Amino acid sequence: MRTLIKGGTVVSASDTYPADVLIEDEKIVAVGSGLAGDTTIDAGGQYVIPGGIDVHTHLDMLFGGTVSSDDFFTGHQAAAFGGTTMHIDFAIQPKGATLRETLDMWLARAEGKAAVDYGFHIAITDLPDSIMDEIQKCPDYGVTSLKLFMAYKGALMVDDATLFRAMEQAAKHRLLICVHAENGDAIDILVKQAIAAGNLEPKYHALTRPPELEAEATNRAIRLAEVAGAPLYVVHLTNYGALEAIRLARARGRSSQIFAETCVQYFFFTKDDLARPGFEGAKWVCSPPYREKSDQVALWQGVADNSLQVISTDHCPFWLEGGKDGRTPGKELGKGDFSKIPNGCPGIEDRMMVLFTHGVRGGKFSLNRWIELCCTNPAKLFGMYPQKGVIAPGSDADIVVWDPDKSYTITAAKQHQRTDYNLYEGMEVTGVPRIVLSRGRVLVQDGQWKGEQGAGRFVKRKRFGQ
Ligand code: URP
Ligand code: ZN
Ligand code: ZN
Repeated sequence: MRTLIKGGTVVSASDTYPADVLIEDEKIVAVGSGLAGDTTIDAGGQYVIPGGIDVHTHLDMLFGGTVSSDDFFTGHQAAAFGGTTMHIDFAIQPKGATLRETLDMWLARAEGKAAVDYGFHIAITDLPDSIMDEIQKCPDYGVTSLKLFMAYKGALMVDDATLFRAMEQAAKHRLLICVHAENGDAIDILVKQAIAAGNLEPKYHALTRPPELEAEATNRAIRLAEVAGAPLYVVHLTNYGALEAIRLARARGRSSQIFAETCVQYFFFTKDDLARPGFEGAKWVCSPPYREKSDQVALWQGVADNSLQVISTDHCPFWLEGGKDGRTPGKELGKGDFSKIPNGCPGIEDRMMVLFTHGVRGGKFSLNRWIELCCTNPAKLFGMYPQKGVIAPGSDADIVVWDPDKSYTITAAKQHQRTDYNLYEGMEVTGVPRIVLSRGRVLVQDGQWKGEQGAGRFVKRKRFGQ
């Protein structure tokens, strides 16, 4: 079966050019002119881009006394409606489990549900010698990145010894170390002090996790990684101080080893959003928290000057009013105590549209840089390139026909993310996905779902730098 995407403008991380794209079964077989297929998709006046890749998501994740509200089907539908065709989620090691057992638990969550392709980072919470030894097997499992949490004391957090040992092993076997960089010990003290003082509203979530504690942990992770010789990827970076640490490391010759992402929502919200009246601020409770307007300016600058290489979502949705009508418990768990609000925000559906509108159309970065940040760099850094992240012969036919002129108003009422709110409620975006293909199959066409549960596949990834 050969499908021709005809008359569009192909966009890569470096070029923008008119070309037809020929797909045979799951792969792109040619990009050029004078091509013929059995069926034709008209892409006149549209961009033809690689499917978005979101390397930071939490679907069906046990967290904060509940579970994130999108599973591997609803989250995948939402991703596809937003032009994202691949994501990497986190398989989080329960204490005492092997890494193989951990991965199998998470593969089981996706089995029979997945509609787009997916991978896993393994998040290590427990590192006895047997697990140190098992790390070398991760590439055989198809996992080439490990995550360690420097925060969430008493739950996911690891100490520096664990982080450093994991880094040494990762260096040896060419795995990428990802870190959630916040100083969990200091945050734990600040949270206890706030509660003791009766400061319980959502805004205290942000006030007990100050930016300095992210900057400190970011710098600590960088220095530990340098000593261990491990490649490092700092997830969800939010502020100027943490960005400076990345910038300094890359400037002292570490630009092939030290990387960082920010998430789309950190360009738009501040800690003031957590202080909205009543309990509304809970919608914005995530970690690290939203910062200041000046940090947003720093982040736009960071993606423009390549201090930041990726923009992901950290999609970790919870209901605002859960625990009833078949909903899992959600943010309401923290009414009266901010420390019990499940941490996380939705966004997998919104990322590509919001960034096209405010990044590309808003003049913050070029069309090609949008593709680099959202598709190509994620594939390269996480061992999937050129299978994913580019439109080229031999690559998977994960393709989005993107209408740059069509407008849409983001609203929870119309979204596919399984939550009762949307951070960007009322935002008008211009530039939306019109047709979304995953390995040659149409998932979404003009707002209609055409995908299939269970058709998404686990993607085995290559070692860092391969
Ligand atoms: O608040 C957040 N970010 N929730 C998801 C877990 C994490 O830290 O990434
Ligand atoms: Zn995190
Ligand atoms: Zn996360």
